[in-house]
Amino acid sequence: MITAYDALFARLFEQSADILLVGDSLNMSFAGKNDTLSTSMDQMIYHTNAVCKGAPNTFVICDMPFGSYRDEATALTNSLRVYQETPADCVKIEGGASKAHLVKHLVDNGIAVCGHIGLLPQSVRAEGGYKVKGKTEHEALALISDAQAIQNAGAFILVIEGVKADVASRVAQSVSIPVIGIGAGNGVDGQVLVFSDMLGLYEPFVPKFVKQYMNGAKMVKESVKCYAKEVQSKTFPDENYVY
Ligand code: KIV
Repeated sequence: MITAYDALFARLFEQSADILLVGDSLNMSFAGKNDTLSTSMDQMIYHTNAVCKGAPNTFVICDMPFGSYRDEATALTNSLRVYQETPADCVKIEGGASKAHLVKHLVDNGIAVCGHIGLLPQSVRAEGGYKVKGKTEHEALALISDAQAIQNAGAFILVIEGVKADVASRVAQSVSIPVIGIGAGNGVDGQVLVFSDMLGLYEPFVPKFVKQYMNGAKMVKESVKCYAKEVQSKTFPDENYVY
């Protein structure tokens, strides 16, 4: 699984990714905000449509923004919008056992749901930062019961974020649905990364768990610098690039 926010990159990811996640992380990398909390439904629907257009044959998950699933009725209204206004296959909501009733309500109404437990980016202000989970046995047991509650409520897949690797592995073994990790080690069923992180495009902050498969920021900056220099020196466009 990899995030995608637009058709351009979705098209490039389609041949390798099993699942594309239109994460609300787009509010940071694309909209330039400091966290995901101000993401809107309109934003998610716009970007989900773009991703589905670029990768029409790939399973697409639309992240539900902060506040968009605060109660059962709101969660259903907003998830129905996703299904009615985009071809997305599924929605994702953050939270463990305390959100299980919302998962059940959506599944009962025909919406496929991906859970998200562990470090919850939408709780960054409430928790005073991005806190790695699973550091104590108490937290480990809470994560296992979160995963089981979300599975029992009907979610068919679960993202686990920012959790000690041994604990994430125990969580994955405690449920039968696929558990997809991010910053949660290798003992889970699959991995997800934010594409702008793994391509080295997002400079403000690089989490420890992110492997940068290329230095995208450097490549883009050098290319644009080169273009600007060639324009200023009038070496671009030369005879190869004119009609
Ligand atoms: O918004 C997002 O990109 C996510 C991933 C971090 C899993 O939820």
